[in-house]
Parts: sequence; C-alpha cells; structure tokens
Amino acid sequence: MALWGGRFTGQTSDLFKQFNDSLPVDYRMAEQDIVGSISWARALATVNVLTAQEVADLEKALTDLLAQVQADPAMVLLDDAEDIHSWVEIKLIEAVGDLGKKLHTGRSRNDQVATDLKLWCRQQGEDLKSLLANLIDELVKLAEREQDTVLPGYTHLQRAQPVTFAHWCLAYVEMFERDVQRLNNALELMNTSPLGCGALAGTAYAIDREALAKDLGFGRATRNSLDSVSDRDHVLELLSVASISSVHLSRMAEDIIFYNSGEAGFLEMADDVTSGSSLMPQKKNPDAMELIRGKCGRVVGSLTGMMVTMKALPLAYNKDMQEDKEGLFDTIDTWTICLQMAVLCIQGIKVNKERTYQAAQQGYSNATELADYLVAKGIPFREAHHIVGVAVVAAIAEKKPLEELPIEKLKEFSAVIEDDVYQHLTIEACLEKRVALGGTSKERVKEAIAAKK
Ligand code: ARG
Repeated sequence: MALWGGRFTGQTSDLFKQFNDSLPVDYRMAEQDIVGSISWARALATVNVLTAQEVADLEKALTDLLAQVQADPAMVLLDDAEDIHSWVEIKLIEAVGDLGKKLHTGRSRNDQVATDLKLWCRQQGEDLKSLLANLIDELVKLAEREQDTVLPGYTHLQRAQPVTFAHWCLAYVEMFERDVQRLNNALELMNTSPLGCGALAGTAYAIDREALAKDLGFGRATRNSLDSVSDRDHVLELLSVASISSVHLSRMAEDIIFYNSGEAGFLEMADDVTSGSSLMPQKKNPDAMELIRGKCGRVVGSLTGMMVTMKALPLAYNKDMQEDKEGLFDTIDTWTICLQMAVLCIQGIKVNKERTYQAAQQGYSNATELADYLVAKGIPFREAHHIVGVAVVAAIAEKKPLEELPIEKLKEFSAVIEDDVYQHLTIEACLEKRVALGGTSKERVKEAIAAKK
C-alpha cells in the first residue's frame, strides 16, 4: 500500500513499483527513521498538533517497533512497502490505528530521508573511526616489533635508500590518521538537522527546529529548507573519505603483495589470510591483500557515481537522489571489512630480516652516502653526484657493491677518498644519518612510535 493513493485513479504497473520501491535498500535506515519519528512526534506536541497522551502512545508504539527492528533488521523485508518511511508509518498505523495517521503532519519524506540518512552516516562515521584506530594500533605494534629491521626503500620501484621496516609501517599510520581527521571534519560538517524543512519550503507549523535538532543529537538545525532537502554533501563526503582511505589501503596492500612475493621474499603472510591454488600445490596467494586492492575500485566507483548523479540536479528534491544509498551502503560495508581484514593480515605478518637486510645492501642504495662523503670533503654536491655515478657504473661492471671496491680503485674516482670512506657506506651509517624530523634513523623512529602510543 502506498501513502499517496488519493490523487490517482489508475493502478501503478508492477514494473514501476519494482523500479520505484527503495525498501530493499533503505530498510537499513529503519532505526534512524523510528528515532526521527519519535522526535517529530514530540515536536508536534509543542505546536499542539498532538496531545501529551497521543505523543506518549506514539512513542510507546515506536519504541516497541524499534526493539523489534533491532532484534531482527531483516523483518522489514518481509513487507512490500514503498520505502522505509512508508513501512514505519504503516506499522505504526497497524499498532495504534488512526493516531498513527497524524504523525506525518507537517513532515515530508524529503526532510525525513535527509534526516535519516544523516543520522545513519553519523553512526557509521563513529564506527569507522574506531576501525581506523584499530588498524593504526596494529601498525604501531608491527613498527615496534620491527624497529631494527632494515628494509630497502624504493622510488620508481628501484632500490633507493635503506629505511627501517618500522618507518614503512609509520608511513601508513600517518595516512590512516589523516583519514580519521577527514572523518572528523566530515562528521562535523554533517552535524546539522534537516528535520522540519518539509517538502522544500519549510514546515507550516511553528516548530522550534533548534530544539528538535538537539533532541536528535545534532549540533544545530540546517538554515535553508531548499538546501536541506536536496543536500547530499554528507554522502559525497563519506564516499570521498572512504575513497581516499581505500586508496591508502590499496597502496599498503600492493606493498605487502610485493614484499610477500617470491621475488622479494621480505615477508610471509599467515595461513589464515592466504589461499592455495587448485592446480599448483606450491602456491600461497595473498588473496586478502589483492581483494583489498581490488575493492578500492568499487569504492571510488561509488563516489564517481554519486558525483555524477548529483551534478545537474535542479533544486530541490528529485527522485534521482534515492540512488544515493546503494553505493553509500556498499562503500561503508566494503571499507569496514577491508579495515578489519587489514588488521588481521598485519597481525600475522612475519618479516624475514635477513632477506630485507640483504636486499637493502644490494642495488647501490648507499650511493647517496658516498656523494655526501665527498661533499664533506669539500666537493660541491653536483660534482660529487657525477663522480659517484661514474663509480657506480664501474662497480656494476665488476659486479660488486661500492663498499667492496678497494681503496685504490675508489681513489681513481676522486683523490679525496680515504680509508674512512667505508664506515660511511654501511647500512647502519645510512640509517643513522637520517636524523632530521621525519627521517628513518632509529632514534627518530623510536620517538615516532612513542608519540603514536
Ligand atoms: N525513498 C525516497 C528516497 O530515498 C524517500 C523520499 C521520497 N520523496 C518523494 N517525494 N518521493 O529518496
């Protein structure tokens, strides 16, 4: 049964009903719709549309319904109401009869859906903050375990300079901390209540919307009714925070996939998050990480989809906006499970310290150190850079790392090179020199870990 039959003489087609109904998706906002309805009933009492007794009866029925829905959210799907707003109203009328028909006075599904969805987004935002915090904790723990583990650092996927494994962990901690900050910003911006804006022009009852906003737990009421019912910035913001965070997750996954590969052999992922091949018995595949990397695509896709849906919508509400929920819900579900999965994967990572150390020693990642050594002996950096480039070519020809070239050979590149050069070419020396804030020296990393904790 639809809520708007009066104006119609003909029947809606089955296909249209299937096309138009949003209950299969928006049933997930049942709690928010009921909570919003309770506040609306209270507001109606303040303008004498409902008596105190009527509000009490409505509140009781709505609270009962809330308990039922919380116990079994899927129960909503057993009915075929048009959307969650219709469902709640129908259930209310079933419970309290004609009184239930008074609740929609001065309210529209347009301000109602905007309110429900904001309430939903706020709840999810809080949950996601704690999931991000879990992942940050796990990365800090891994950093603590691997403070002394040397890892080759890359640019262009070529070994560049050694870092510590902890430094790598803390790079992702920075990203996920920014995601938390972004979520906070988004939550702050969406902390306004659209309820009481009616269909588009505002409600015709002199309701104190600030008090109503407070009753719903919002910071304040929205200020313009046209904007209030057609604003989906909160959806776009959550999708965009989710997209950026998914990109971070995906990049982390890619690093781990590479480190876990036979070619790198830097780490091993645990059995509980890897799978085998049906054909090749030797395989242990990093599926969890590949799925995190892959799912990033659908999250970014939902953001793009919603941007395009909103792009040319005239004010105020248009049914196009009903398309906001499917992508948002899927995105929040996807982001949530990816964050949980990442925690599980990080917990089980075993780093092969010998292998990472070996790899950091190869690839001339101490070439910058040799250049800095020459600079310390008075050679301008640009010239030093050139000298070392020539030295590297010679070392490659001899299939040796720089530190294995004898001093006579090194002196051919520059007369200022002395025996003391070798102490500058060790991995430890490379690491320890990175002492400025943000660098990979052990001391800085130790401080960074302490600061995170
Ligand atoms: N199911 C609708 C949505 O999600 C609710 C608002 C319907 N409003 C309307 N005027 N048809 O957007």
